[in-house]
Amino acid sequence: MSAIVGRKKETEELMQIYRRKQAQLVAVYGRRRVGKTYLI
Ligand SMILES: Nc1ncnc2c1ncn2[C@@H]1O[C@H](COP(=O)(O)OP(=O)(O)OP(=O)(O)O)[C@@H](O)[C@H]1O
Ligand SMILES: [Mg+2]
Repeated sequence: MSAIVGRKKETEELMQIYRRKQAQLVAVYGRRRVGKTYLI
Protein backbone atom coordinates (compact mmCIF):
# COMPACT_ATOMS: atom_id res chain seq x y z
CA MET A 1 0.00 0.00 0.00
CA SER A 2 1.33 3.48 -0.83
CA ALA A 3 1.37 6.47 1.51
CA ILE A 4 -1.58 8.79 2.08
CA VAL A 5 -1.23 11.86 -0.12
CA GLY A 6 -2.48 15.06 1.52
CA ARG A 7 -5.42 14.68 3.94
CA LYS A 8 -3.26 16.03 6.77
CA LYS A 9 -6.13 17.85 8.47
CA GLU A 10 -8.46 14.86 8.13
CA THR A 11 -5.85 12.41 9.45
CA GLU A 12 -5.13 14.59 12.49
CA GLU A 13 -8.83 15.00 13.20
CA LEU A 14 -9.44 11.24 13.06
CA MET A 15 -6.35 10.49 15.19
CA GLN A 16 -7.52 12.95 17.84
CA ILE A 17 -10.89 11.22 18.02
CA TYR A 18 -9.21 7.78 17.97
CA ARG A 19 -7.17 8.67 21.07
CA ARG A 20 -10.23 9.64 23.09
CA LYS A 21 -11.29 7.35 25.89
CA GLN A 22 -14.95 7.72 25.04
CA ALA A 23 -16.55 6.22 21.97
CA GLN A 24 -17.53 8.63 19.24
CA LEU A 25 -19.48 8.35 16.02
CA VAL A 26 -17.75 9.76 12.95
CA ALA A 27 -19.43 10.24 9.58
CA VAL A 28 -17.11 10.34 6.59
CA TYR A 29 -18.84 11.50 3.44
CA GLY A 30 -17.77 12.61 0.01
CA ARG A 31 -17.88 11.90 -3.72
CA ARG A 32 -17.31 8.40 -5.08
CA ARG A 33 -13.65 7.31 -5.11
CA VAL A 34 -12.52 10.43 -3.30
CA GLY A 35 -10.66 8.37 -0.67
CA LYS A 36 -13.03 7.78 2.25
CA THR A 37 -12.22 4.10 2.79
CA TYR A 38 -8.50 4.65 2.20
CA LEU A 39 -8.42 7.39 4.82
CA ILE A 40 -10.19 5.26 7.42
N1 LIG B 1 -5.12 10.32 0.23
C1 LIG B 1 -4.79 9.40 -0.68
N2 LIG B 1 -3.51 9.15 -0.99
C2 LIG B 1 -3.19 8.23 -1.91
N3 LIG B 1 -4.05 7.48 -2.56
C3 LIG B 1 -5.35 7.65 -2.28
C4 LIG B 1 -5.80 8.61 -1.33
N4 LIG B 1 -7.15 8.58 -1.26
C5 LIG B 1 -7.52 7.64 -2.12
N5 LIG B 1 -6.46 7.08 -2.76
C6 LIG B 1 -6.54 6.04 -3.79
O1 LIG B 1 -7.80 6.17 -4.44
C7 LIG B 1 -8.49 4.93 -4.43
C8 LIG B 1 -9.95 5.18 -4.12
O2 LIG B 1 -10.11 5.52 -2.77
P1 LIG B 1 -11.26 4.87 -1.86
O3 LIG B 1 -11.60 3.52 -2.33
O4 LIG B 1 -10.84 5.03 -0.44
O5 LIG B 1 -12.46 5.87 -2.17
P2 LIG B 1 -13.91 5.87 -1.54
O6 LIG B 1 -14.25 7.31 -1.29
O7 LIG B 1 -13.99 4.95 -0.37
O8 LIG B 1 -14.76 5.32 -2.74
P3 LIG B 1 -16.25 4.74 -2.73
O9 LIG B 1 -17.16 5.93 -2.60
O10 LIG B 1 -16.38 4.09 -4.06
O11 LIG B 1 -16.36 3.79 -1.56
C9 LIG B 1 -7.80 4.05 -3.39
O12 LIG B 1 -7.71 2.72 -3.80
C10 LIG B 1 -6.43 4.64 -3.23
O13 LIG B 1 -5.49 3.94 -4.02
MG1 LIG C 1 -15.29 3.28 0.06
